Amino acid sequence: MNSSFPLPPPELAARIGGSYEEYGAIAEAHRRYVESMLPEGWSFAGKSVLDFGCGLGRTMAAFESRSAEADFSGCDIHAPSIEWASRAMSPPFRFFTCQDSPPLPVDADSFDLVYAMSVFTHITDAWSAWLVELHRVMRSQGVAIISVLGPAMAHQILGHEWDERIGMAIVDLHKGWDIGGPDVLLSDWWIREHWGRAFEILAVQHAVDRGGHDLVVIRKRDVKVSREELEAIRPAEEVREREALEVNVELLAEQLSSLGSIAQPAAPDTKALEETVAALREQLAAIEGGRSWRLTAPLRAAAARWRQLRAGPLRRA
Ligand SMILES: C[S@@+](CC[C@H](N)C(=O)[O-])C[C@H]1O[C@@H](n2cnc3c(N)ncnc32)[C@H](O)[C@@H]1O
Repeated sequence: MNSSFPLPPPELAARIGGSYEEYGAIAEAHRRYVESMLPEGWSFAGKSVLDFGCGLGRTMAAFESRSAEADFSGCDIHAPSIEWASRAMSPPFRFFTCQDSPPLPVDADSFDLVYAMSVFTHITDAWSAWLVELHRVMRSQGVAIISVLGPAMAHQILGHEWDERIGMAIVDLHKGWDIGGPDVLLSDWWIREHWGRAFEILAVQHAVDRGGHDLVVIRKRDVKVSREELEAIRPAEEVREREALEVNVELLAEQLSSLGSIAQPAAPDTKALEETVAALREQLAAIEGGRSWRLTAPLRAAAARWRQLRAGPLRRA
């Protein structure tokens, strides 16, 4: 790696994805993504930067040469990673742990630049809460560069082509962060429609290579924002939103039923799983009949059920 920092222990690095041999190359690639997506004329001089979901500070390591001109902080929910990074890379960098829901332990208007590599790729129900929180901690006109999973990841995640109905679709909701977390697919229009209420969308750059992440560049709008506002469905977008919800429920029902077949016949919880699938099907029917838009509750129930199953004999690597 082109930095003076040591490599982390392999067992910690395993958690953040990517091969250990390529640890430094991945860090460099992330730095290049961030630097290449900064608005024209942007300078690091005197700026305050947050690596949100920094893991072991892999990407920050590649910013070592910038640390003399800008203040870099990294936060993550994984305390052992933050402890290692603090020992190995602080100073010049600052690290702090955070919870899996806001707030961050920092003041409002703290950062000029936030970047999040492979973090919003896995944040499910909490997406709107985290966008509201990033909006809070960003300075006026602050910029964020966020990697997301788009069409280039369809084969890897769905096993088939991108479905044009996708808005925000969640796959492998049951996967814990220790094995990569759930996968969240996001389409261009959905980002513009929902994220665009809090942030100006400066760019959505689609990955050219299959398996690559898309990059979203946003600038803080000086408006008051709330979760409800970001999540709301505008009447003008109802058709597209309904299709997006339908595909999400279809994917979720598919996954639940495959998990159901893995569970049989020994798992004691099959009945509860079947009930969850039935609730989801009912929800889908309600959406198809135009009777309900509220998917959040069954999604949360399914997630809770999966977490319980994970903790039990069904845990999959
Ligand atoms: C795939 S790893 C990427 C780590 C780092 N960004 C990198 O590219 O090296 C995703 C990281 O996001 C962290 N994470 C997940 N949810 C988070 C949250 N709500 N706040 C902060 N970090 C989070 C995970 O603990 C994990 O370290």
